[in-house]
Amino acid sequence: MSRPRTAILISGRGSNMMALLAAAAAGPAYPADFVLVASNRADAAGLAHAAAQGIPTAIVESRGRSREAFEAELQEALAAHRVELIALAGFMRVLTAPFVSRWQGRMVNIHPSLLPDFKGLDTHARALAAGVAEHGCTVHLVSPGVDEGPILAQAAVPVLPGDTAQSLAARVLVEEHRLYPAALARLATTLARDPGAA
Ligand code: GRF
Repeated sequence: MSRPRTAILISGRGSNMMALLAAAAAGPAYPADFVLVASNRADAAGLAHAAAQGIPTAIVESRGRSREAFEAELQEALAAHRVELIALAGFMRVLTAPFVSRWQGRMVNIHPSLLPDFKGLDTHARALAAGVAEHGCTVHLVSPGVDEGPILAQAAVPVLPGDTAQSLAARVLVEEHRLYPAALARLATTLARDPGAA
């Protein structure tokens, strides 16, 4: 596997997806090829941006379907594009254990907290309510437990006096956009050298 063929899965805004695509577009040295952006929601704003960048897109609707039916179609789309590595970027659908196992070591996620703190949703409001001095983001391999896989990289930001969930989220997001392309690049390089590594 040289430059792993990589899919980005989104559900909404897609700002992390844009950061990944920008890193790859910045020069030929980026060690992953983004070959597909797939969304489980037709109205995900990130889809238009990906298409404008010339990246193939796919919509695999998850609403009103069983997880198994959804994942079977998703797997077909991934296979059709010969995907070898998956980056979840604001992908809001929990994946089943069989799907996660199939992609073990080759599927990563970015989560807006310093895991293992604040798994799940509303991380910024919960961090403020807990009174922590630092908050941040984590890139981790995906395992069957939600937000529980091995940590690949983290970035911290200070919580400042007067912070709201929005201001804190914005400060964390700046770090997400730096951290994710760098962490994914390291994993892609490792996989390119040794496909059985992760
Ligand atoms: C990010 O904060 C990411 O960490 C979390 O969901 C948010 C998605 O934002 N998993 P975007 O769609 O990448 O802009």
